[in-house]
Amino acid sequence: MRGKITLEILGLLFVHSVIGCPERCLCNITLKEVSCTGNGLSEIPNDVPPDTEILDLQNNHIHTISNAAFTDMPQLQVLDLSNNVISSLSSNTFDGLHNLLNLNLANNSITYMDNKILHSTENLKQLDLSFNNLTSLPEGFFENQNNLIWLGMHQNQLHQLDTALLDSLSNLQVLLLQKNHWKCDCHVAGLKLWLESFLYKGGQIDEILCTEPEDLRSKDLMKIPHEKFQPCPSVKHKPSNAHSEHGSSTTQNHHGKNEHDQHSECKTKSKQRAGSLRHAIATIVITGIVCGIVCLMMLAAAIYGCSYAALMAKYHRELKKLEHLGPEVEQGSAEEKEPLDGSQA
Ligand SMILES: *[C@@H]1O[C@H](CO)[C@@H](O)[C@H](O)[C@H]1NC(C)=O
Ligand SMILES: *[C@@H]1O[C@H](CO)[C@@H](O)[C@H](O)[C@H]1NC(C)=O
Ligand SMILES: *[C@@H]1O[C@H](CO)[C@@H](O)[C@H](O)[C@H]1NC(C)=O
Repeated sequence: MRGKITLEILGLLFVHSVIGCPERCLCNITLKEVSCTGNGLSEIPNDVPPDTEILDLQNNHIHTISNAAFTDMPQLQVLDLSNNVISSLSSNTFDGLHNLLNLNLANNSITYMDNKILHSTENLKQLDLSFNNLTSLPEGFFENQNNLIWLGMHQNQLHQLDTALLDSLSNLQVLLLQKNHWKCDCHVAGLKLWLESFLYKGGQIDEILCTEPEDLRSKDLMKIPHEKFQPCPSVKHKPSNAHSEHGSSTTQNHHGKNEHDQHSECKTKSKQRAGSLRHAIATIVITGIVCGIVCLMMLAAAIYGCSYAALMAKYHRELKKLEHLGPEVEQGSAEEKEPLDGSQA
């Protein structure tokens, strides 16, 4: 009996070594799944079968991932690294994962991600970056992610999000952004517009509450009227703005370009305002000229009217003078007619 059990255990170990299931992991050959959850792993096991499609590494203590750690598993479709302590990822971490559909990095300590990190994973449908410490994402981060359907970035430290990043997510259906440090100034107005359009197209979002400024704290971004975000800081305010951004000098390099874009956006806004000011001035000038012309015409009409009246008055006076001078002449002529009339009658 005892010998039989030992044999069975030996047999199991043999099977394990043959299929190459990594130590402290469970393998399901039919599902091509390797599950190594909650086993205190501090790094990615290096003997994962190359045909693995599902690799579950959640609930461990993984803090670093070596370069191109998954290139030997090109069939990988699901990679779950959630609930670990990963703080940094190199740009080639996910190289070669062209079949990856679901990448879960939730609940780690990631503060920054390189803009080349998703270059191989162009078929990704679901990306979970929630519960990390991301303060921003670099330009072009989602460039090839036009298959992405579900994106979770909730519970991070994002202050703002450049909508140019989101524009490449042409098939996105769910976008989760809640519990970040949303700074609801003029820069967030673009995001609000983008989200409104996303909702209109049937997209789903969660509740985005502002953290800053004080008067908008805990207000739902989607319920704040657009007028609240005007006006954008003009060029004049740029130095003080740049100064306030110096607080996070380490992250500034990563999203420096975004900031620049947003500043130029603000500049164009102030340019537009200058344009509309010029327009207003032109309108006033034209109105003034038209009013002036009308006034001049009225004045001319008045002068004409007065002189006409004066002339008429003079004419009447002269007529009356004539009446006084020769009433007999006129009466006589009238009397001359009367006998004629009488004779006729
Ligand atoms: C593999 O997973 C399938 C589907 O969940 C299950 O039916 C099967 O029993 C599993 N095999 C092993 C060896 O765990
Ligand atoms: C995050 O991961 C830790 C372990 O690393 C776990 O204790 C905690 O419950 C997780 N939090 C969430 C929200 O999943
Ligand atoms: C990361 O964020 C968590 C909360 O999401 C926080 O407890 C932790 O202190 C942050 N770590 C760093 C290094 O900022």
